[in-house]
Amino acid sequence: MKSIGIVGVGKYLPKKVLTNHDLEKLVDTSDEWIVTRTGIRERRIAEKNEATSDMAIKAAEAALKDAKLKAESIDLIIVATISPDMQFPSVATIVQAALKAHKAVAFDISAACAGFVYALIIAQQFIASGKYKNALIIGAEKLSSLVDWTDRSTCVLFGDGAGAAVVAPVKRNGIISTYLGSDGTGGNLLMVPAGGSRLPSSHDTINKKLHFVKMQGNELFKIAVKCMAEAANKALKQAGLGCKEVDCFIPHQANERIILAAAKRLNLDTDKIFMNIDKYGNMSSASTAIALCESVKSKRVKKGDIVVLDVFGAGLVWGACVIKW
Ligand code: ACO
Repeated sequence: MKSIGIVGVGKYLPKKVLTNHDLEKLVDTSDEWIVTRTGIRERRIAEKNEATSDMAIKAAEAALKDAKLKAESIDLIIVATISPDMQFPSVATIVQAALKAHKAVAFDISAACAGFVYALIIAQQFIASGKYKNALIIGAEKLSSLVDWTDRSTCVLFGDGAGAAVVAPVKRNGIISTYLGSDGTGGNLLMVPAGGSRLPSSHDTINKKLHFVKMQGNELFKIAVKCMAEAANKALKQAGLGCKEVDCFIPHQANERIILAAAKRLNLDTDKIFMNIDKYGNMSSASTAIALCESVKSKRVKKGDIVVLDVFGAGLVWGACVIKW
């Protein structure tokens, strides 16, 4: 298999900051509860007229600039999202049109918080097979549009944003190993019940607030720790590496306690973990994309470093990817 890597990264975050203290005025919660239970201090909230694709386009432009590539030369655009602008068309085709990426094939994938790593691995396969030369992958979410702002058990957790990366063949280094897992039997633990073909939106579904995120946080917590540790272990084993060789561990940012518990299982030094959950909360597919971008741009990740992306989300779906940067 030829070496395939990430040759450009970008991000976009809405300007509006919603702090834990702001949330204290909305629901019966406290900054102390949110910080100690999740590690989150604030999150970004998109404007009313700012859709997921608007954020995706800005992150994509930044990644293309970073990769020194013109949109016209992109072969494939994959957007990972669970908060698309609308049921269809896809966010990816909206992005394609806005960027004037005329020759690109564009589609969305739904893999919740694991979406960016799923998109990366799909892009890798297309490039490795020789079908396409490069790909633009994006994790973009406006989760504020799916959150019940009267439900303290969920509204404190999520935020909005977008991250992007350009994937292409590289002369040296690149993706070393990947691992993906799914278990649909846990799908009921985290979902938006209405608005699809099972329960189309109606006055009744809206009155019952079924178009908002419903989550069994406790159950998910335990499964997330187990699956994230297992995914990273399997990908590292496949790469012939151990945790000692990892330079930067970039996990999905759902909860600081989940990340630390997974790292403990892995026997991974905590100073190797990249975390930005305090600033942004859980942005689903955008979280890992933005964390990767920030870790590269802040030089936390340097040339030759071993980077592990490790994700878990609704579905249930999870995965990991080991990259030599
Ligand atoms: N403020 C104050 N109290 C609260 C809040 C809040 N915002 N939310 C819940 N509580 C209360 C509960 O009502 C409960 O009170 P009780 O004991 O009187 O019943 C108490 O706090 C404890 O609640 P728990 O749910 O047990 O709290 P826990 O420590 O499990 O933390 C959390 C909850 C943060 C949701 C955690 O379970 C979690 O992070 N779960 C995993 C989330 C996740 O990984 N999701 C998957 C990825 S997301 C994706 O794919 C889109």
